[in-house]
Amino acid sequence: MLKFINETVDYLKDKGFNEPEVGIILGTGLGQLINSIEILKEVSYNHIPNFPTATVEFHKGKLIYGNLAGKKVVVMQGRFHIYEGYTLQDVTYPVRVMQQLGITTLLVSNAAGAINLNFKKGELMLIDDHINLQGSSPLAVRGIEQMGERFVDMSAPYNADINAKFKSIAKAHNITLHEGIYASVVGPQLETRAEYRMLKIIGADAVGMSTVPEIIVANHLKLKAAAVSVLTDECDPDNLKPINIEEIIAMAAKAEPNMVILFKELIKTL
Ligand code: HPA
Repeated sequence: MLKFINETVDYLKDKGFNEPEVGIILGTGLGQLINSIEILKEVSYNHIPNFPTATVEFHKGKLIYGNLAGKKVVVMQGRFHIYEGYTLQDVTYPVRVMQQLGITTLLVSNAAGAINLNFKKGELMLIDDHINLQGSSPLAVRGIEQMGERFVDMSAPYNADINAKFKSIAKAHNITLHEGIYASVVGPQLETRAEYRMLKIIGADAVGMSTVPEIIVANHLKLKAAAVSVLTDECDPDNLKPINIEEIIAMAAKAEPNMVILFKELIKTL
């Protein structure tokens, strides 16, 4: 894997991706952040050597390099999910590449369902901890010890300083920012009523289909990591309506301006 990563990194450095400090993974609900970036370079995933082969759905995926709030950033516009048929190593490959390019901080966003019914759709949740329900680990591969530790500590996977900053920024801008536990599932199907009940019992506040693999690898690489979810639906097992994907996308869009404020202001403080 190291040889592949080095090839990818050499290609991107050649393209001008010079020493980014912060990596950002844009999930549903943070696409607008792109409008705040002074874009210096961008490359389609399709053109990046050794990047996971893009599916039809994802041929719009791009890696972007530029300035945001005075920092050099590298941004993934579009991420890879296991529900698309990628492995967890594919899903997290770009995190390893961004680390080799020079990032020391990784910021992640996603859309998630609210398991904690005190949290309302359209609100944001800072991820304080997670439960991996994806059935495997991106670190469960032969040779992982050549790339870092095998038994990675997970006592504080989300950086406490960054989370404290996110909370004070939210307060200063009057943005509701809950804090909670994110459970990652494989998807792509949504959960049954029984599954939502289980998720609540095991302590999840939100559920989604991403983020946890990237955060595990960020910890493997000793990056400072943080993640924020847009809550797009309320997962009440006693009152569950059929899922409406348009409503989920509309909710993510509604929360987007607040997400953009949080990320921009946070990056200023790094
Ligand atoms: N479950 C899983 N993933 C999701 C959900 C959900 O309810 N909402 C948005 N992403």
